[in-house]
Amino acid sequence: MEWALRMRTLRAWLIVMLLLHQFHHHHHESMACLEQEKMALLAFKASVPWTDDDDTSSGRLPSWVEDDDNDDCCSWERVQCNLTTGRIIQLSLNFTRNRWSSYDDAHIPIWLLNASLFLPFQELQHLDLSENGFRGLADNEWLEPLGRLKRLEVLDLSWNAFNNSILPSLGALKSLKNLFLSGNNLEGNFPAEELAGLENLQMLDLSGNRFNGSVQAIQGTYKSSFAVPWAPSHITPNIH
Ligand SMILES: *[C@@H]1O[C@H](CO)[C@@H](O)[C@H](O)[C@H]1NC(C)=O
Ligand SMILES: *[C@@H]1O[C@H](CO)[C@@H](O)[C@H](O)[C@H]1NC(C)=O
Ligand SMILES: *[C@@H]1O[C@H](CO)[C@@H](O)[C@H](O)[C@H]1NC(C)=O
Ligand SMILES: *[C@@H]1O[C@H](CO)[C@@H](O)[C@H](O)[C@H]1NC(C)=O
Ligand SMILES: *[C@@H]1O[C@H](CO)[C@@H](O)[C@H](O)[C@H]1NC(C)=O
Repeated sequence: MEWALRMRTLRAWLIVMLLLHQFHHHHHESMACLEQEKMALLAFKASVPWTDDDDTSSGRLPSWVEDDDNDDCCSWERVQCNLTTGRIIQLSLNFTRNRWSSYDDAHIPIWLLNASLFLPFQELQHLDLSENGFRGLADNEWLEPLGRLKRLEVLDLSWNAFNNSILPSLGALKSLKNLFLSGNNLEGNFPAEELAGLENLQMLDLSGNRFNGSVQAIQGTYKSSFAVPWAPSHITPNIH
């Protein structure tokens, strides 16, 4: 009798331990990155027009290499994943080239942004592409592919050399809350119509461009569609 009781207790303990082990295991295992997202990162890396001036220690994304010891792209520099899902949620691809110029310089290859490269990152929330010297967009789709990333909330395109040709495609970026366009070659009247459909937009940084409309006129256009009005300090239309 006592023996049977002991066995039952032991069995109960074993079950509890087994469950605890599984629980523990489950909660400490983070997901590795997805194969298609890793491939997309490598495709982005392959598309960067490096120059000899680029610092090989940081500028060339040295951790972005495919080998067995380094398989999980969630651990690569400038990449942040949701560790539960293994999906990439943030890419900090600012200043990926050490030297660039927004002006014609024969030594620095022109880089056009190919927004389609980011399509595999369906859970992406934050994309920083600032300080890369992009001169424009690589194909006719313009920024539209980024509009298909339903969770994208922050897009930073500041300190590049985009001109007004990107403006018509900004309207596709419906989920954006923060849009940074400072320090580009944008000019003339601010195209309020193009951005009127960005219903979630809370912050728009247009400083360091050559817009010539008044801040009041821009704000007036948005009065009804902005839950949190942008502060005038975020817009400096006349600064060069
Ligand atoms: C990660 O993904 C899970 C499942 O979709 C979600 O519940 C959680 O809020 C996400 N965490 C972050 C930091 O986005
Ligand atoms: C990219 O931007 C982040 C946030 O502003 C900053 O901490 C980081 O140093 C920048 N990276 C490079 C390479 O400039
Ligand atoms: C842009 O990227 C997509 C996806 O990788 C590719 O199919 C396309 O050829 C690229 N376009 C250009 C102009 O490089
Ligand atoms: C704007 O940039 C595009 C792409 O680089 C270029 O083809 C076009 O000529 C530029 N337009 C102006 C007005 O500079
Ligand atoms: C603003 O710039 C545009 C294009 O450069 C020009 O046509 C327009 O007359 C300017 N408006 C003012 C008020 O300066």
